[in-house]
Amino acid sequence: MPIMNNVYRQRAAEKPLVTLDDYRAAGGYTALPKALADVEPDDLQYVFMRSGLRGRGGAGFPMGKKASFLPKDSKKAKYVVCNADESEPGTFKDRDIMAFNPFQLLEGITLAGYAIGAERGYIYIRGEYEHQARVLDDAVRQARAAGLLGEGILKSTLNFDITVYRGAGAYICGEETALLESLEGKRGQPRLKPPFPAVAGLYQSPTLINNVETLAALPPIVENGADWYAALGPEKSPGSKVFSISGHVMRPGNYEIVLGETTLRELIFVHAGGLRPGRRVKAVWVGGSSVPVLGEGHLDTPLDYESIQAAGSALGSGGCIVMDDSGCIVRASLRLATFYRHESCGKCSPCREGTTWLEKLLMRMIAGEARMEDLEMMETLFGRISGKTLCPLAEGAVAPIKSALNMFRDDFVRVVENGSPRPEPMMAGA
Ligand SMILES: Cc1cc2nc3c(=O)[nH]c(=O)nc-3n(C[C@H](O)[C@H](O)[C@H](O)COP(=O)(O)O)c2cc1C
Ligand code: SF4
Repeated sequence: MPIMNNVYRQRAAEKPLVTLDDYRAAGGYTALPKALADVEPDDLQYVFMRSGLRGRGGAGFPMGKKASFLPKDSKKAKYVVCNADESEPGTFKDRDIMAFNPFQLLEGITLAGYAIGAERGYIYIRGEYEHQARVLDDAVRQARAAGLLGEGILKSTLNFDITVYRGAGAYICGEETALLESLEGKRGQPRLKPPFPAVAGLYQSPTLINNVETLAALPPIVENGADWYAALGPEKSPGSKVFSISGHVMRPGNYEIVLGETTLRELIFVHAGGLRPGRRVKAVWVGGSSVPVLGEGHLDTPLDYESIQAAGSALGSGGCIVMDDSGCIVRASLRLATFYRHESCGKCSPCREGTTWLEKLLMRMIAGEARMEDLEMMETLFGRISGKTLCPLAEGAVAPIKSALNMFRDDFVRVVENGSPRPEPMMAGA
């Protein structure tokens, strides 16, 4: 993971910071002692707020503001929950942060716990991340042995510990309330909101839930100050963000960039090594698979929340999937429809039935068995799903396919008329 501004510390050429000594040698665990010695919990929340850090799990909600929503006068236990479910297609940044820099995450969770008055943190990690879960288990053991977790952390009055909890590999368990249900040992299905987790989260207690990348950003913010972080990138989208880039690029991987300073074109052609010779960008899902698709005309858009929104998409999780002009947009849409149909938890019928129908319609098109009216039927279907479900999974199924139909209608018409031939194989490594 090449680092440009040192927020996530680990550099690709260096060894993973999986021992406490190595993390300390890289400047780690300076923020926590500083906060415990000099900063009151409410002031720490204010530091988070002033930094402008926005949630990196998808929605981009300001982290400090979310922390401030937890009731201060509640007698109930409070919790910090780290969302390490990372199941959004195209997104694999949290995986590297946990594998290469687990202590920065633990330090961040502990800082968040101190700020909100929690004594317990959980890392809910997707079941498939067994290696990362073991790295975290080991890091927790090392931190406990060094007095950085447990009772009286660093001889202060702070009692705080972290449990690593393995999920069973369901996309819906990344949705924060489904995650909490699963963490409580129930079936992972979303809850009705409000109440939001800040008020009634884990065990109906006030809970701060944030993504891995969000929480791992806290130590450098505390260390270098909110002003330092807020000055990186644009006013409304400050800080750095790790983009996972995959698909038809020569150097897929994770790249940390300062928001607003790099365009989508630079991410693809400078960092990710560009496309195969002679190919052009056809489609890009810049924020994971749940966002509207962008095309070649959007390549000069700066990568920050506002600019990507103005271009018609969303920065989301930063899972940037690139398709060149050898790909078929209808096939790509079918692949996504199949994913959402499979991952729908089935609780609401517009999502359960709608995603099934989307998949069926697209399969019919690919097979050359569709009629032109099927395109209109698909548009009607979008309206039957959008805004009519309990959680945003269904919206995430509609957005990429609806935008693809709008942007590449001619391709859909061609596929309806002729079907879609099998794609040519990818070259190795691309
Ligand atoms: C279907 C679905 C899946 C999600 N998956 C994840 C995930 O894997 N990781 C994550 O951090 N957030 C995921 N989210 C977003 C979470 O609900 C929540 O907004 C996030 O954990 C908040 O953290 P943040 O503010 O730090 O981004 C998902 C949301 C939905 C609707
Ligand atoms: S929108 Fe889909 S995933 Fe979300 S609660 Fe409804 S059925 Fe489940």
